[in-house]
Amino acid sequence: MPGYPVLPEGIAYGGDYNPEQWPEEVWHEDVRLMREAGVNLVSLGIFGWSLLEPEEGVYDFGRLDRIIDLLGSSGIRVDLATPTSSPPTWFRAAHPSSHLVDRAGHVIAGGSRHSFCPSSPEYAAASERIAGRLAARYAGHRAVVMWHVHNEYGWANARCYCETSAEAFRDWLRERHGDVAALNAAWGTTFWGLTYGSFDEVEPPRLAPVGQLTALQLDYARFSVDAHIANFRRERDAIRRFSDLPVTTNFMIPNCEPMDYWRWAGEVDVVSNDHYLDAGRAEGHIELAMAADLTRSVAGGRPWMLMEHSTGAVNWQPRNLAKRPGEMRRNSLAHVARGSDSVLFFQWRASRYGAEKFHSAMLPHAGTDSELWRDVVALGAELRELAPVRGSRIEAEVALVWDWESYWALELEWRPSVDLRFRERVEAYYEALWREHVTVDFVHPAADLSAYRMVVVPSSYLLTEAAGKNLHRHVEAGGHLVVSCFSGIVDENDTIHPGAYPGVLRDVLGLSVEEFHPLPENGTVAVGDDGLTGRIWSERVRLAGARTVRAFTGGPDAGHPAVTRHELGAGTAWYVATALDPRVGQDTDGDLRAILRAVLDAAGVSRPRGLPDTLELLRRGRHLFLVNHGDEPVTVPGVSGTGVLDGAEHAGSATVPAGGVTVVELAPDA
Ligand code: GLA
Ligand code: GLA
Repeated sequence: MPGYPVLPEGIAYGGDYNPEQWPEEVWHEDVRLMREAGVNLVSLGIFGWSLLEPEEGVYDFGRLDRIIDLLGSSGIRVDLATPTSSPPTWFRAAHPSSHLVDRAGHVIAGGSRHSFCPSSPEYAAASERIAGRLAARYAGHRAVVMWHVHNEYGWANARCYCETSAEAFRDWLRERHGDVAALNAAWGTTFWGLTYGSFDEVEPPRLAPVGQLTALQLDYARFSVDAHIANFRRERDAIRRFSDLPVTTNFMIPNCEPMDYWRWAGEVDVVSNDHYLDAGRAEGHIELAMAADLTRSVAGGRPWMLMEHSTGAVNWQPRNLAKRPGEMRRNSLAHVARGSDSVLFFQWRASRYGAEKFHSAMLPHAGTDSELWRDVVALGAELRELAPVRGSRIEAEVALVWDWESYWALELEWRPSVDLRFRERVEAYYEALWREHVTVDFVHPAADLSAYRMVVVPSSYLLTEAAGKNLHRHVEAGGHLVVSCFSGIVDENDTIHPGAYPGVLRDVLGLSVEEFHPLPENGTVAVGDDGLTGRIWSERVRLAGARTVRAFTGGPDAGHPAVTRHELGAGTAWYVATALDPRVGQDTDGDLRAILRAVLDAAGVSRPRGLPDTLELLRRGRHLFLVNHGDEPVTVPGVSGTGVLDGAEHAGSATVPAGGVTVVELAPDA
């Protein structure tokens, strides 16, 4: 694999830089201020295609030559982008068949980015050409240290429904299913009499009058991911003809549902990710932590790069709340704590034009006499101190199952309840573990689980037979398993596993489910005798080896099991037949924490006790990161070592100020 790390001397700091939006005089000020802020890496040229190739086959690299030379001579390294997420207007005008088409058959207009069809052969040729040209010209330039292909694949054009896409889909189906009889069998097309006579009769899942073949929809989702990956590979390989520098593309984990990043993981030399807080959400830092953990997991546990986040408000949410004092710093260091070797932003200088002029930047419209700029400079200085963290790894004893295919499948129409959502359940389990200060990895359900004491399966509706066997082996070998309701119901074609629910998990859980009894909107159901409350879901569990830990004490399944436990081989499998919450109201521990605490204890998962759950705690290599999201200082016992940011010596405890972050290089015996 081409050489990673990208910046051997430490944590990369900087962001997207769009000098083409500014006259050249401004570039000199940019570079001077970048140095003042400690910027050492910028992503350049992301939206530069129309200037680099003003007419088809006519190139003008003069401006890019000058800016790369200027950056290089100032010691600022370049993550050089291919500009292919925003094709030039001439491309769009010349190739109407490349235009993006939505499910209803509308042709999506230009005047924006991402408005091309991912299966377009004209796009393929043009994007490969410009990527190769850039690589040929800049491969040996001393400023260029990595390649940034495209920008956010699948963000706005995840799936196209044009005729070119339909043809490409048919080829993809021939490859996957072999012959049309196999396709009919896999998709269950005898249902509603939809048997295909040939691949040519298959249409993409365009807008249909009523419920559409769900297996068709899942295959289209897979096909569409593969179309984007093919575009990436073509550009990456064009670059590799000239350069052996690392190639990345910025993912959007976990906020781009149509992209299956397990499928993407092996394609990039270094995983990079863009993450934006949902500013309207209370405690958004928990979702940030989840995104970072999932990104690290997609990177196979290796360090990764935070390619974009924001210094303050974004421009695309309904109410673009500014970050609170210290929040940019907490967010940045939390990403580093969870495995990022960079803190990069969209963008360097706030832009004056177009859709994103109200998006925050490192250098705001107000200029350097601003609180934000002072925070940016201070963060740059702190990151220099954190150089020894680069490259180090994170150990987790608990894994959460995350499968994009199951995510898609659970979002399809006509499920037992619209309230049972994949993200909602994953986030509930993640949050409960976060509040218990447990570090988690995410895993695909068929991945090697041997490193984990405990595996959690939050409503993984789609589970293949192989994945079911994998979870079974994990328990037999001594692992703990927690499964939440509506998991293991269907296979990869959205076909219900034979027999009673949950087909591939009956044996490991020691039970079956006779019937689902989803609750009315906002309905709740009592669980046990001590006030636990389930939402969304109830179901009739029939024990076949498992024991009842708690029974439903109300609702349609009163008197029947709600939480069960099954000893199998050397391990234990737990089942939760309703939706429990990690937290109730402002201050009350949720019921899910009580259940998970019991499993964590049984599994012997190590974790600190007695800390407030506003304190985020993460160990990365020899470093302990303590991020205080609360309004009171917190003293963490059992910490000995040296404060990296303040030089403080800690002998047995560390106190983290309200809203502050402390990073301790642990003493050798810690
Ligand atoms: C209608 C249709 C049936 C079936 C049911 C489901 O009555 O005629 O084919 O789809 O709805 O409720
Ligand atoms: C994405 C894009 C950037 C910019 C930001 C704004 O991450 O990659 O170009 O649009 O969103 O938040």
